[in-house]
Amino acid sequence: MSDCPIGIFDSGLGGLSVYKELVNHIPNEQIVYFGDSGNAPYGPKSTEYIIQRSSEITEFLISKKCKLIIVACNTATAAAINHLRTNFDIPFIGMEPAIKPAAKATKTGSIGVLGTQGTFIGGHYQNTKAKYANNVNVVYRIASGLVEYIEQGEKDEEYITGLLTKYIEPMLLENIDHLVLGCTHYPFLSKDIQKIAGSDVTLVNPANAVVRHTTSVLKMAGMLNISENNRGDEFFTTGDIEKTKRIVDSITMRLYNIKPV
Ligand code: DGL
Repeated sequence: MSDCPIGIFDSGLGGLSVYKELVNHIPNEQIVYFGDSGNAPYGPKSTEYIIQRSSEITEFLISKKCKLIIVACNTATAAAINHLRTNFDIPFIGMEPAIKPAAKATKTGSIGVLGTQGTFIGGHYQNTKAKYANNVNVVYRIASGLVEYIEQGEKDEEYITGLLTKYIEPMLLENIDHLVLGCTHYPFLSKDIQKIAGSDVTLVNPANAVVRHTTSVLKMAGMLNISENNRGDEFFTTGDIEKTKRIVDSITMRLYNIKPV
C-alpha cells in the first residue's frame, strides 16, 4: 500500500500549488493529479454538482490505486468532503482556509480572505471563522474571475491589476495585515497580489499545512513511501490538452505527458 500513489484533484490547475509543496516535502510519493479544467470554475456551481463531480473524480483516482486523496480545492472541500468521507473508504485531506494561522499572527486585529463563492457559502468557512477568529475582524471577498484568468494561462497585467485592486483595496482600508489565499489557484498570483497589498501584508498559503497534515496521516497509517521514487507522476485533465500542458510545464518545470479523460 505504501508504494501506491497519492491522488490530488482540483477544479483545474490550482491544485498544482499543493502538488509543488508535496514534491518538495515528501519526494518519495508518486502522485496522480486530476484537473477538472473542462468544468472550471466550481465556485459559482451548485453544491449538488460539485458533489457529483468530486465523487466521479474520486472513483477515477481509486481506479488508479490511490491510497489517499487530497481535495486540493477549497470549493470542493466545502461542498463535498463530508459526502466523500461518508461514501468512500479511503482517507481524504481537504483544504482549510488558513484563518487560524492568520488570526493568531495578526497585530492589527484585522485579516483578509480571498476565495470563491462556493467556499464562503459553505458551513466549513463559517465554522473555521467562528472557531479561530472570533476576536478578529475578518474581511472576506469573493474574488470572481481569478480562477478563469489562471486557467486561461495568458498574462494581462492591466486586467489582473484592476481586478485585484477592486478586491484588495477595501481590505487595506480595514487595516488587514494578513491576507489568506483561500483558493488553491491564487498562489499563482502571489506576486500580483503582494504588489497591490503592499509589503506590510503577509500572504498566507495553506498548501504547506496541508502537506504536513498529509504526511502525518500517511505516517500514522503506515502508508508513507520510504522507497525512492523516479517521479512517475501522472496528470489527467478534462480541459484542453495543449493549454494544460503549457501551464503544467511552466508551473512544475518538468515536461509531463498530460492525458485526457
Ligand atoms: N482551486 C479552487 C479552489 O480552491 C477553485 C475553485 C473554482 O474552480 O472556482 O476553490
